[in-house]
Amino acid sequence: MYVILLGPPGAGKGTQAVQTAERTGLLHLSTGDMFRENLRNGTELGNLAKTYMDKGELVPDDVTIRMLLERIGRDDANVGCLFDGFPRTVEQAKALDIALKEQGNEIAVTVLIDVSNEEITRRLGGRVSCATCGSVFHEIFNPPDANRPCCGTVKMIQRDDDKPEAIANRLQVYADQTEPLVAYYTQAGKLKTVNGEQSPEAVGVDLLSALQESSN
Ligand code: AP5
Repeated sequence: MYVILLGPPGAGKGTQAVQTAERTGLLHLSTGDMFRENLRNGTELGNLAKTYMDKGELVPDDVTIRMLLERIGRDDANVGCLFDGFPRTVEQAKALDIALKEQGNEIAVTVLIDVSNEEITRRLGGRVSCATCGSVFHEIFNPPDANRPCCGTVKMIQRDDDKPEAIANRLQVYADQTEPLVAYYTQAGKLKTVNGEQSPEAVGVDLLSALQESSN
């Protein structure tokens, strides 16, 4: 099964993808995580991506599509994938459709996690992640447990693109370049929407129901 999690920055795609991949056995593929891993490893791709990410701009389609298609061509992707943060443009969506078709596969469902801009600004302003493993927390909504520190350390870091100027630009980029995917997948009869302004547990339940309905 190939599933897309769609939604604005901070909607909770990453939070839901980690849990849903554990429950379903799908491979979680986040293009944002791939770029950040490349950056940590000091690759040319990572350094190129950083110049866009820090401003809240999208990394160019050709670079992003090449990276993602190479990843889904590996054997471990045959179990099915949960795409988080990809596609983000209509061009990326078309490239994914073509690549999956060549493998004899197709997108089963795209789930839009619906969250207002006000809530997103609150979430991204308080997001922190473990400096060692990258697990995501929120200073107020999902604080790290001081008694059971993640990876044995309490060191939490803030992403460079969670600064206020970058957040505003990411929301604009989402509206201009990514929101057209709502129409794209609606026309394909593959869009389901869940209310992202509930507890992470409740969003997860709705998401699993959407996946189950689409696998029948
Ligand atoms: P990426 O890493 O994909 O960032 P994003 O889409 O902006 O999404 P986020 O990771 O910010 O948010 P999320 O929806 O995963 O929310 P999260 O679960 O963390 O991309 C970063 C950059 O990389 C892009 O700007 C671009 O430059 C580049 N890039 C990546 N993919 C690309 C592509 N395909 N094409 C071109 N460029 C690309 O949750 C957010 C916070 O809210 C957390 O603190 C969390 O604890 C909290 N939270 C989550 N759920 C809830 C809830 N239900 N209630 C309360 N709090 C919650």
